Amino acid sequence: MTLEELHEVIKNCTRCPLHKTRRNAVPGEGDIKLGIMIVGEAPGASEDEVGRPFVGAAGQLLTKTLAELGIQRGDVYITNVVKCRPPGNRPPAREEAAACLPYLLKQISILKPKRVVALGAVSAKTLLGLVGKEVEKVGDVRGRCYPGKIAGVQLEICVTYHPAAVLRNPRLGEDFRRDIATFFKGGLDRYF
Ligand code: URA
Repeated sequence: MTLEELHEVIKNCTRCPLHKTRRNAVPGEGDIKLGIMIVGEAPGASEDEVGRPFVGAAGQLLTKTLAELGIQRGDVYITNVVKCRPPGNRPPAREEAAACLPYLLKQISILKPKRVVALGAVSAKTLLGLVGKEVEKVGDVRGRCYPGKIAGVQLEICVTYHPAAVLRNPRLGEDFRRDIATFFKGGLDRYF
C-alpha cells in the first residue's frame, strides 16, 4: 500500500464513533526526507475543518519553531495518534486511540522514520508504550530519545511538550524550542 492509498483509507474510516462527528479526517502530510516524523494527539477544530494536521494556533507555533531553526514544515511528515477530532477537543478515549493505532503503525512501516517526535502526553505514552516503556508524566521523559522497534522499523522516539501546552504555559517554550532543535539537529547531522 502506498502512503496516498493509506491516506484515502483514513479519510473514509468508520472504525470508531469519531467518524460520525468529524468534518474531515486528518491523515497526515509532509515528507520524510529528513527521516523525522512528528506525532501529535488528535486534530482540533481548525484541522477538522481543512483535513490537515497542526494548522490551528498550536500548529502555527510548531511551524514557526521549525522555521526559526531553518526547517521547512513540508520536509517533515506530521500526523497524530488519532486521525479524527474528538468533539470539544476532549482527549481521545482509549478505544478511539486503539481503533486508530493501525494507521500510525502503517504510516511508520511505509515511511520508515529514523526518529519520531512525540508531542505531549498522549503521543508519548502511545509511542513509548509500543516499545515497552511505561510513562507516568511527560515531564519524566521530555527532552529525551528512546530507541526501539515499531512496525518492524528501528527508530528513536523523542519526546517534548505539546505546542498547545506551550501556548497555555509560555514558560515551557524554552524547553520546547531546545528539544525540537536537539531532535532535528541530531537527525540532520546523522542522516544527511
Ligand atoms: N493538536 C494536535 O495534537 N494535533 C493537531 O493536528 C492539532 C492540534
